[in-house]
Amino acid sequence: MYAIPFLDLPAVTSAGGCVQLPGSKSISNRLLLLAGLSEGQTELIDLLDSDDTHVMLAALTALGCVIEREGRITRITGLAGRPAVATADLFLGNAGTAMRPLTAALAVLAARLGGNYTVRGVVRMHERPIGDLVDALRALGCVVDCLGKEGFPPLRLAGGSLDLSAPVQVRGDVSSQFLTALLLALPLGVAHAPAVIEVVGELISKPYIEITLNLLARFGIRVEREGWQRFTIPAGSRYRTPGRVHVEADASSASYFIAMGALAAVDEPVRIEGLGTESIQGDIRFIEAAQAMGAQIASGPNWLEIRRGMWPLRGVTLDCNHIPDAAMTLAVMALYADSPTLLTNIGSWRVKETDRIAAMATELRKLGAEVEEGADFLVIIPPKRLQAAAIHTYDDHRMAMCLSLAAFNPLLATQGAPVAVRILDPKCVAKTFPDYFEAFFELAATEPDHVPVLTLDGPTASGKGTLAAAVAERLGYHTLDSGSLYRVTALSAQMQGVAAEDEAGLAQVAEGLDLRFEGTRLYLAGNEVSDQLREESIGVMASKISAWPAVRAALTDLQHRFRRLPGLVADGRDMGTVIFPDAPLKVFLTATPTARAERRYKQLISIGFPANLAALRTDLEARDARDRTRAVAPLQPAEEALLLDNSTLSIEASVEQVLAWWQQRRPASFQ
Ligand code: DC
Repeated sequence: MYAIPFLDLPAVTSAGGCVQLPGSKSISNRLLLLAGLSEGQTELIDLLDSDDTHVMLAALTALGCVIEREGRITRITGLAGRPAVATADLFLGNAGTAMRPLTAALAVLAARLGGNYTVRGVVRMHERPIGDLVDALRALGCVVDCLGKEGFPPLRLAGGSLDLSAPVQVRGDVSSQFLTALLLALPLGVAHAPAVIEVVGELISKPYIEITLNLLARFGIRVEREGWQRFTIPAGSRYRTPGRVHVEADASSASYFIAMGALAAVDEPVRIEGLGTESIQGDIRFIEAAQAMGAQIASGPNWLEIRRGMWPLRGVTLDCNHIPDAAMTLAVMALYADSPTLLTNIGSWRVKETDRIAAMATELRKLGAEVEEGADFLVIIPPKRLQAAAIHTYDDHRMAMCLSLAAFNPLLATQGAPVAVRILDPKCVAKTFPDYFEAFFELAATEPDHVPVLTLDGPTASGKGTLAAAVAERLGYHTLDSGSLYRVTALSAQMQGVAAEDEAGLAQVAEGLDLRFEGTRLYLAGNEVSDQLREESIGVMASKISAWPAVRAALTDLQHRFRRLPGLVADGRDMGTVIFPDAPLKVFLTATPTARAERRYKQLISIGFPANLAALRTDLEARDARDRTRAVAPLQPAEEALLLDNSTLSIEASVEQVLAWWQQRRPASFQ
């Protein structure tokens, strides 16, 4: 997951491959509550592992559920309708799917059994209305106190006396989660009498109610339904665990990959596993909307395959009431259409993680689209070309995921120069899809020269490796420690008895390297050699063999392959001069021989190798001389390289300097 302040998405040009999506948020949190309230143990397979499920798991644990995780299985021993504690203060983050049903369940339990529970969340959660649910619970005899503003969390649920003699009324036109909450809570109170719920106003987001009813049925509760107006939970209903339940992949999360396929899957489809035509999630109907815009979709019970169909996409006019979350994805697809798109009946967007109508309009305008915004609609007029923009995500996972699709701008026939898109606070995707961007970069592809490279060249022990790793972490980029490739060639040659003078033999060794990289660890033929590579004798041999043109040539392709989305920080001797001459930022790092010898000394001692400071200094000066004077790719700054002498700089100060230079090379709209 990218826990960094921003992530720059380079312009991408195609998509294809297979993606395994995380479990559905709506299903996961409903199942957790149902399993938590049931008697006995439930096994949930492929439960979503994200912020919203973490708060639900923590709340259930606080109430006395025993929860264990083992690989893909989450085992929950439920409360059998009776919390183990009579008081609890529960923090539910920004998870509506936890706040609403837990409020209702705890209110009903407190009214029936006594107890005093508080539910609260982040600031935005305290701005999201819950008054209609509070009114319904009060009408049922529950005691609900709004601790901040009336009609909003935080709430205290304490005592009361449950009265089911009259139907309880709940509004259906603000959030379907209020009805879901009552449907999930009232089975806890119907031992002697049925519970009847009447919906006031047009019920929005009906598919989410279908998920609720479907899952209730799996836990033994058969709700009788008259249209979408009246729901009866029969007397004597009781939660019973079905034992084991599979969580299907999240259909709203699928929408981004369906869109990727529609935009850019030309040679190879985008294939989604774990979700298909048998899905119980309403957002599966996003497929129809995507098809209407031009996507070509094949499907099975448990999979989808998407390709580009019509291109450019077609603008649509669509009532989105049935796909409130996935419809956001249409707003971004609309950038690639041949005519305007009108999305209607999306008023519920205004009370989600952020005011999504306002947020979407603002960010699409930044990209260059003309957008008309109404109380419950959005019109998007596609621009001729997209502009580079720093996208605000408003702590809303869907804003981040949707707007990532703007990176496909080179596909617009009228685009001209491709532009990068900056996503601010990318970690907000953790709400439902912590590894979204990793999956995005897996499936998206682009021309190598769209992938930015930052090169850090310099002599040995100048601190390149440390600096490169730190800069890469801040930008979310990959790293290439090119010195390690010369070192591992040296090690491998030593192991195979190939002499430092045997140019052809060494080149063969370099070509045949069996390498695996895991973060900063390097494996040669399956064995970790990271520490061994730091030995001085290996460094000396690396310096010698790197003077051979055939060895350098043998390692060139391998180094180019590190240039992967979203970007690369490459350190070495010739990163800026030979390997990545088009890098937008080249830094040449220096430090005095004394400072470098001291660094190398500390590094060796810290990993348990004996070292002598004076000998190290003589050695590294000899190595500098050799690296500088060799005929091929000698160590020298690229013409346009910026010099950074870090003899007296802290690592943090060097990192800040390099990031500042990097920022200057980014589009003005990123500043
Ligand atoms: O950076 P380092 O000390 O790990 O590099 C080991 C040797 O590899 C160095 O003495 C010269 C050589 N090298 C090179 O020739 N070109 C590079 N890009 C990186 C390292």
